[in-house]
Amino acid sequence: MIHSGRVDVRTGVGSYPVFVGHGVARVLPGLVAERAASGRFALISDSNVSPLHGERLAEACRVSGLDPTLLSFPAGEASKTRGRWMTLTDEMLEAGLGRDSCVVAVGGGVTTDLGGFVASTYLRGIPVIQVPTSYLAMVDASVGGKTGVDVAAGKNLVGTFHPPAAVVADTELLRTLPERNRREGLVEAVKHGAVLDEGHFEAIERRCDDLLRADPDTASDVVLASIRIKADVVSKDEFEGGFRHVLNFGHTIGHALEAASEYRLGHGSAVGLGMITEAAIGERVGVTAPGTRDRLKRALDRLIDPAPPGLTLERTVAYLGQDKKVRRGRPRYVLLACVGETSRGVAWTHDVPDEVAHRALREVLDAA
Ligand SMILES: NC(=O)c1ccc[n+]([C@@H]2O[C@H](COP(=O)([O-])OP(=O)(O)OC[C@H]3O[C@@H](n4cnc5c(N)ncnc54)[C@H](O)[C@@H]3O)[C@@H](O)[C@H]2O)c1
Ligand SMILES: [Zn+2]
Repeated sequence: MIHSGRVDVRTGVGSYPVFVGHGVARVLPGLVAERAASGRFALISDSNVSPLHGERLAEACRVSGLDPTLLSFPAGEASKTRGRWMTLTDEMLEAGLGRDSCVVAVGGGVTTDLGGFVASTYLRGIPVIQVPTSYLAMVDASVGGKTGVDVAAGKNLVGTFHPPAAVVADTELLRTLPERNRREGLVEAVKHGAVLDEGHFEAIERRCDDLLRADPDTASDVVLASIRIKADVVSKDEFEGGFRHVLNFGHTIGHALEAASEYRLGHGSAVGLGMITEAAIGERVGVTAPGTRDRLKRALDRLIDPAPPGLTLERTVAYLGQDKKVRRGRPRYVLLACVGETSRGVAWTHDVPDEVAHRALREVLDAA
């Protein structure tokens, strides 16, 4: 079996390659040379990833005759701000990086979102090469072209669509990823299987031990399959008109749980509980095949944290419907037909009676 591969993601203006595999970071210098005529680029990574991987990748590029400017910022979601965007762009201006340069973002989703946003606005837009280093960034954040920062009014509310010039997902880099991030990132891969590909769902369940210890070859197979699914969805619906909504499975409830827990519950755990709840909702309204909720729970149990104490139905409900997916003030739900198939609904989402959603949520919170 070959544990590496390439996926081409189509966009309105062309396509970009996603390289996945054990050791594929070796293609980075060549990609930079193609994208930055000056050979100059900003390598952006956070304070954890820079010493682990960023500096080494910059050095590999330097050896190939390129000229990196290493920029770093404090790790964590709290850095995904306009303030940090300003500091990074100012640093790039000071370094004299021109339109013939590019950005290489090396890190988790915070870095790929922030680095992508910096690239999309710098001198009205220069290319970004995404080098995701977390499961979440590999299977989700680095593919699809969404970039952005968080603002006081909410997460990801200021940003752009700026498809990367290329994505390099080297699964060797996952070895240093902390255990919690491994678990939580894999939830989005389970989601890809749940909405569109039962075989992928089952493969993750079967290979969970190897994935959790970040075996690079297993990770390559699974990341590649997940990226194929996401790439197919975003190619068909680049700007989130309809079909792309399927990727929001688990997120209507998940976002409310995240906010109600004041972000003590991680995104992956919140979405995992959200998927289980939304499966329960789907079963109650007769859209989702009976047994789906239990199947999801079995697959997710090893990946997610339980709901923290004090996370009540009342608190969570207060955040339901404060989401981008709200239509005329009502929350919308992506519902499965069964594992591997999403129900079409209206633009792939459903309106469900509040009491059904609340009852399902109470059950899941009580069991968690
Ligand atoms: N643009 C999109 O479509 C999209 C999709 C999903 C999520 N996101 C965004 O992604 C972000 C979450 O991503 P995340 O979970 O990767 O967060 P993150 O970037 O904060 O990374 C999580 C933690 O792991 C560390 N880390 C990352 N890779 C590492 C490695 N290989 N070794 C050691 N440490 C490593 C980071 O320093 C950080 O402390 C959120 O801001 C979310 O909004 C964006
Ligand atoms: Zn998500």
